[in-house]
Amino acid sequence: MPQKVRGVVAHKKGEPVSVETIIVPDPGPGEAVVEVQACGVCHTDLHYREGGINDEFPFLLGHEAAGIVEAVGEGVTDVGPGDYVILNWRAVCGQCRACKKGKPWYCFNTHNAAQKMTLEDGTELTPALGIGAFAEKTLVHSGQCTKVNPAARPQAAGLLGCGVMAGLGAAVNTGQVGRGDSIAVIGCGGVGDAAIAGATLAGATTIIAVDMDPKKLEWAKEFGATHTINAREADVVEGIRELTGGHGADVVVDAVGRPETFRQAFDARDLAGTAVLVGVPTPDMTFEVPLIEIFGHGGATKSSWYGDCLPSRDFPALINLYLQGRLPLDKFVSEEIALDAVEEAFHRMERGEVLRSVVVL
Ligand SMILES: NC(=O)c1ccc[n+]([C@@H]2O[C@H](COP(=O)([O-])OP(=O)(O)OC[C@H]3O[C@@H](n4cnc5c(N)ncnc54)[C@H](O)[C@@H]3O)[C@@H](O)[C@H]2O)c1
Ligand SMILES: [Zn+2]
Ligand SMILES: [Zn+2]
Repeated sequence: MPQKVRGVVAHKKGEPVSVETIIVPDPGPGEAVVEVQACGVCHTDLHYREGGINDEFPFLLGHEAAGIVEAVGEGVTDVGPGDYVILNWRAVCGQCRACKKGKPWYCFNTHNAAQKMTLEDGTELTPALGIGAFAEKTLVHSGQCTKVNPAARPQAAGLLGCGVMAGLGAAVNTGQVGRGDSIAVIGCGGVGDAAIAGATLAGATTIIAVDMDPKKLEWAKEFGATHTINAREADVVEGIRELTGGHGADVVVDAVGRPETFRQAFDARDLAGTAVLVGVPTPDMTFEVPLIEIFGHGGATKSSWYGDCLPSRDFPALINLYLQGRLPLDKFVSEEIALDAVEEAFHRMERGEVLRSVVVL
């Protein structure tokens, strides 16, 4: 029987979100219904509401979640009722050309549920990143459910489902930052601080946090930043060069996603260094540089989809690091909120008051 649950819906571009009754179908072949326990508020949810991702309103928001599998559809064997899972938004297909080349983290045909969740009047909802977890229950593809150690509390574990994995992976997987390296991270929200935490785990020795908000810079130090630059007060590129012997950092991560921040990342790398774009730009943004600078600087400019992660490989390992006290996931949780407080959480995010507001169900 389809179930009625409460969920947070963005109806129109730029309009406040509201809690609505959602119809969740029974899981079909390859699908799972998950009882959501906690879901973080990511900047990407706000991008959706602002119409910055696509126009497929209404959206069922939320995509950074942990919960318990309630039911699975035909043919699902990897997960079953009662399993504690983190939801992922890149369930790899195993069949596409990226998967067949042995690079499944680039999978070009990731799986989502085939059926749609709807409003009570039958209007189909677009779940954010194919998840839609600001809801008591959600329907996903079974491959989007990654089992992890249930000892990790859902408020913390769920954050690996998006922002923390994306930021940490941007530094470690995409940027390949390693022991003794220098890294600068532009934008120290949940994603940027996760890049800093990842660089710390990887043994980077110079970790430069860049933000316009002094409070964010203080928080970044708690994740391992060794230096900070206030982008309102100092020239970011000059500042990064000064802190790296005049050369620039081995890796610069742009966790904002604007032309001006990507330009800083591009320029503030050492020769042959890597600039990583993990912040998500909007479709109207452009980036223009003289071709000779791309050639002359060498190295790489890369984008990081979901931190180039493989959920089945990375989530259980990172949860173990968390349980061992080596990955401070709890520090990302600024506040726990109810489902009806997501709109206010967006405003708190815009005002820079939180790293992550986490909806607890
Ligand atoms: N690539 C991915 O897979 C992926 C996954 C999750 C989120 N994201 C994206 O990452 C970005 C960051 O997400 P978040 O949740 O951390 O957002 P957030 O709003 O919590 O953090 C953004 C931070 O950037 C700072 N900032 C803004 N403009 C700046 C500037 N010009 N210079 C320096 N700092 C600046 C803000 O003060 C804030 O601290 C968003 O664009 C989000 O959509 C990407
Ligand atoms: Zn694939
Ligand atoms: Zn996200």
